[in-house]
Amino acid sequence: MPNILIIDDEKSIRVTLSEFLKKDGYHVITAENVQMAKHLLNENTIDVVLSDIIMPKDSGITLLKYLHETSPDIRFIMMTGEPTIDTAVEAIRLGAHDYLTKPVYRNELLKAVRHAANFKQLIDEKRKLEQQNLEQRENLERLVEERTYKLHQAMLNTAYATAAMLDLRDPYTAGHQKRVGSLAKAIGKELKLPEDTVEGLHIAGCIHDIGKIAIPFEILTKPVQLSQNEYAIIKEHPKIGYDVLLSYEMPWPIAEIVYHHHERLDGSGYPQGLKGDQIRLETRIISVSDVVEAMSSHRPYRASLGLQSAIDEISLNKNKLYDPAVVDACITLFNKKNYTFNED
Ligand SMILES: [Fe+2]
Repeated sequence: MPNILIIDDEKSIRVTLSEFLKKDGYHVITAENVQMAKHLLNENTIDVVLSDIIMPKDSGITLLKYLHETSPDIRFIMMTGEPTIDTAVEAIRLGAHDYLTKPVYRNELLKAVRHAANFKQLIDEKRKLEQQNLEQRENLERLVEERTYKLHQAMLNTAYATAAMLDLRDPYTAGHQKRVGSLAKAIGKELKLPEDTVEGLHIAGCIHDIGKIAIPFEILTKPVQLSQNEYAIIKEHPKIGYDVLLSYEMPWPIAEIVYHHHERLDGSGYPQGLKGDQIRLETRIISVSDVVEAMSSHRPYRASLGLQSAIDEISLNKNKLYDPAVVDACITLFNKKNYTFNED
């Protein structure tokens, strides 16, 4: 049953109203002043407050203001022997539920309290539903987050497996794509790109050379400089990779990045000779990561040129071939943040 708190400085009124309500099945507690009422409100779960307005110390309006700020769901019924329009208006403004004039008769009292208690029950049910709704939504969001993470991990693992297949064909560059993926991801983070974009960069880096799978083994692993014809065949790998990836819908523009990863800002790249803004930022990041990793590693036809040569290359051609912000981010990673390829 609902819990009722009666506040009145006159004991006879407290006792009488209390008896009326108890006989009707309510749990009732009483207070002779506002201070005591506040204490009882802190210690008990109250549904309806029935309060006198004019009392020796603090008035019922003080209590109503307190409830309005601390527990607005509790229903407040005010009682007074000297009703004024101003008091009634202020009480309504502060959220009073009802108004009884003294002397309070049993039927009027029960009717007002019953209505207030039913109203409070509806509020409680509404709050409970809101809470359940919030919990369900939070659970759902957590579930979506978990599934998205697992899905992205699965995609990344698929990219790793695809990269490993190319490594089997071209053991001299084994790990190149994975390391490019890691560096591209680090540059993306350094540039403060959105988390989702960074994940896409990681995956794109891991499969950017996938088209090389269709290049003859002899050309791919030739230990001396390639002839012009052989180089022309190698240069087909971005388009081959693009054609393969184009058929598969992905949440990132990976096919396009793969297609353009040998394009350069000044139009000197291949296969399309794109310039400046025609090359998207993600692609520019993969290009820089690709060049830096390739120069730092051994190749069939040459020993590693070393990280410093790679840094010199991108610094020298910053703005000309490579995006300046990407170059700066890459140099910061190696020179100031101790980035290494070893962490793969
Ligand atoms: Fe490539």
